[in-house]
Amino acid sequence: MAKLKVLNAYCGIGGNRKLWQDVEVTAIENNLDIANIYKDFFPKDKVYVEDAHQYLLDHYQEDIVENAKQKNITKGIMKNQKSLFGGEYDEEVWKKEWRGMPEFIQEKQEVYAKIIFRFDNEEDLQEFAKIIGQKLTNKTKSAWYPFRSHWGNNKK
Ligand SMILES: C[S@@+](CC[C@H](N)C(=O)[O-])C[C@H]1O[C@@H](n2cnc3c(N)ncnc32)[C@H](O)[C@@H]1O
Repeated sequence: MAKLKVLNAYCGIGGNRKLWQDVEVTAIENNLDIANIYKDFFPKDKVYVEDAHQYLLDHYQEDIVENAKQKNITKGIMKNQKSLFGGEYDEEVWKKEWRGMPEFIQEKQEVYAKIIFRFDNEEDLQEFAKIIGQKLTNKTKSAWYPFRSHWGNNKK
């Protein structure tokens, strides 16, 4: 039987991860130094150095819903689910789960330009990272310039 896939967003150095066994983990951490420590602890995990919120926005359908269907944990929770919050989008569902949590409002972000840069090697990538003053790796899928985090953490 295939392993359960887990998305470990905001993974840090992996304190919680130490409690999980027999799972296939994709870990997201936006601080390269911290991500490197995590990778040392859990070399088999896929680790991406990028914004976890953006990763979730980009991948939740393929990684979470698909995985849930494959592992047959759809019963009761995700039966016939087409989106993260339910079959047809039901605005009331999240309100039931969101008790006592801080308010979070996601404004629609219009992107002025989206450009794909290609690099032949690590040296070129790091030269570019230095120019824009951000940490980039060959796992980075997207970044904002100037740097922006969805959680108000403006540390590069
Ligand atoms: C409280 S720690 C996580 C602890 C971790 N869950 C554990 O069990 O050890 C939060 C981590 O999220 C990272 N982080 C903060 N904002 C982030 C973002 N927007 N995307 C990805 N990681 C982020 C921080 O660098 C920090 O390492």
